[in-house]
Amino acid sequence: MAEISSACTHLQFPVYRRCLPSAIPYTLIVSTGTWILVIGSLFVWQNSSVDVIRLFDRTAPPESMLPRYRPVVLNLTDFGAVGDGRTLNTEAFESAVAAISSLGGKGGGQLNVPQGRWLTAPFNLTSHMTLFLAEGAVILGIQNETYWPLLPPLPSYGYGREHKGPRYGSLIHGQHLKDVIITGHNGTINGQGQWWWMKYKKKLLNYTRGPLVQIMWSSGIVISNITLRDSPFWTIHPYDCNNVTLTGLTILAPVNGAPNTDGIDPDSCQNMVIENCFICVGDDGIAIKSGWDQYGIAYGRPSTNIFIRNVILRSAVSAGLSIGSEMSGGVSNITIENILVWESRRGIRIKTAPGRGGFVRGISFRNLTLDNVRVGIVVKTDYNEHPDAGYDPGSLPVIEGLSFVGVRGRGVRVPVRLHGSGEIPVRGVMLRDMSVGLSYKRKNIFQCAFVEGRAIGSIFPEPCLNLDRYDVHGRLVRRSAGQNATNIDYSY
Ligand SMILES: *[C@@H]1O[C@H](CO)[C@@H](O)[C@H](O)[C@H]1NC(C)=O
Ligand SMILES: *[C@@H]1O[C@H](CO)[C@@H](O)[C@H](O)[C@H]1NC(C)=O
Ligand SMILES: *[C@@H]1O[C@H](CO)[C@@H](O)[C@H](O)[C@H]1NC(C)=O
Ligand SMILES: *[C@@H]1O[C@H](CO)[C@@H](O)[C@H](O)[C@H]1NC(C)=O
Ligand SMILES: *[C@@H]1O[C@H](CO)[C@@H](O)[C@H](O)[C@H]1NC(C)=O
Ligand SMILES: *[C@@H]1O[C@H](CO)[C@@H](O)[C@H](O)[C@H]1NC(C)=O
Ligand SMILES: *[C@@H]1O[C@H](CO)[C@@H](O)[C@H](O)[C@H]1NC(C)=O
Ligand SMILES: *[C@@H]1O[C@H](CO)[C@@H](O)[C@H](O)[C@H]1NC(C)=O
Ligand SMILES: *[C@@H]1O[C@H](CO)[C@@H](O)[C@H](O)[C@H]1NC(C)=O
Ligand SMILES: *[C@@H]1O[C@H](CO)[C@@H](O)[C@H](O)[C@H]1NC(C)=O
Repeated sequence: MAEISSACTHLQFPVYRRCLPSAIPYTLIVSTGTWILVIGSLFVWQNSSVDVIRLFDRTAPPESMLPRYRPVVLNLTDFGAVGDGRTLNTEAFESAVAAISSLGGKGGGQLNVPQGRWLTAPFNLTSHMTLFLAEGAVILGIQNETYWPLLPPLPSYGYGREHKGPRYGSLIHGQHLKDVIITGHNGTINGQGQWWWMKYKKKLLNYTRGPLVQIMWSSGIVISNITLRDSPFWTIHPYDCNNVTLTGLTILAPVNGAPNTDGIDPDSCQNMVIENCFICVGDDGIAIKSGWDQYGIAYGRPSTNIFIRNVILRSAVSAGLSIGSEMSGGVSNITIENILVWESRRGIRIKTAPGRGGFVRGISFRNLTLDNVRVGIVVKTDYNEHPDAGYDPGSLPVIEGLSFVGVRGRGVRVPVRLHGSGEIPVRGVMLRDMSVGLSYKRKNIFQCAFVEGRAIGSIFPEPCLNLDRYDVHGRLVRRSAGQNATNIDYSY
């Protein structure tokens, strides 16, 4: 493999263009005025804080230059926030969210975060809210665990994941919400994770690190057109959510030395779209999960109906896209299209182990490009990392129905390693049209064990003999020479 650079530099997406309205429409001014009156009287009636009332003293509303997604638009500075990177703005965020919450729905409210560096401790979102990060707006997470609240472990994990007991909450958090949008003109949420990674490596933390954005038990979630960087732990963690759209995101963390900074971890979620994202992080780019061993089996909520497309991924220490290893609630009906994984250790990795239970079923890849990747497509069935001794080694996951159509690439050492086992055989693999340039000329680079399936059409390098071989017209050319045969070789 070519030299792994430590930078995430690009491989870019189309440059974002801001479209400011040339004039503020009259109707907008009228409706803004009406809303200011209505909401103003609401706040006066509620005898809210001085900060909130000060909002309505303003003469010119500059935030009307930004797009409006809600009838009420608030500006963070009107809640006393100071964007100097040092002043702690937790109360400003909390008061603004409380103001939106007190609207009681009715279309909800938008909180504009202007240009500046807004230091804050973790805060919660509310339903029917849009958090809008203007160009040059940076929300900074405070580097002091005293300010990070502890939350109970996730029920499907039983543990904090790194430590027993509770875990730190996320910088931006939400539970039991509906209709939440986090968007902007590519403003940034920065977890300042360096401090957390250092503490983690020195074993100075007693609890599991917090994600950057975690939304739990919620529906109607959109996160779009922002940058998220240097999360203490996983970056975006939607947990047991329905109807989630993630689009136009740049997710960054150092590719080395930033432990567990996964990009996006859909966890027991359904009806989710991830598209047009650039992700370059210190662990898996995207990792689809659904709980851990006996806790995940008991919780029993799969990740299902997930569509991922037009995503560029890089992970120097793990995989561009993975499923598992926590998949005990099951993972099914995942469609993944137009994916580029570059300068990474693994391209795609499905990982599980005895004890997980659950299933990985109906996973369909189309148009996958691997550029300078050590191992391209991996199934690993002995990822033995368990929460405690209480797991049942007899709970065996089922892996079936994995299809890969159109796999291209260059600079790949081992294009395919499908490592099933006697306990966890891999069934229903379908591979059609593959042409991957190799960085090593060696035998056994298409590795299989306990695999049942078909290789169809033009396939380079030559597929393992475990698979039935079909020609481009779908005619059987050669039957499998033995599905259980093994030529797995981890030496390269
Ligand atoms: C958003 O900002 C990030 C970080 O500066 C940058 O890498 C990315 O290209 C920007 N995205 C767009 C669409 O301009
Ligand atoms: C918010 O208010 C500040 C200070 O009044 C102003 O400079 C800024 O333009 C406003 N920002 C937005 C996003 O409305
Ligand atoms: C944020 O939400 C969590 C979970 O619902 C809750 O435990 C915590 O008290 C909330 N924090 C604040 C400041 O409201
Ligand atoms: C963290 O915050 C607490 C409470 O404000 C303070 O006593 C402590 O000194 C801070 N720690 C660091 C490392 O800044
Ligand atoms: C971790 O626990 C030890 C022992 O109880 C305590 O001394 C230390 O302050 C704790 N550290 C943190 C970061 O909570
Ligand atoms: C999904 O959420 C979006 C954003 O909140 C909403 O507009 C849409 O109606 C929801 N779709 C369904 C099927 O609930
Ligand atoms: C993201 O930004 C693009 C380019 O400005 C815009 O066309 C699109 O509507 C935005 N999408 C969302 C979901 O905010
Ligand atoms: C599978 O997921 C897709 C979204 O990716 C959805 O449109 C489709 O209805 C799902 N199929 C089933 C059988 O649920
Ligand atoms: C395949 O995916 C790449 C991005 O990895 C994209 O540039 C290309 O247009 C896609 N091809 C098709 C036919 O969609
Ligand atoms: C291959 O392995 C499967 C799964 O362990 C087993 O059921 C089957 O009997 C084996 N087949 C042969 C021919 O050994």
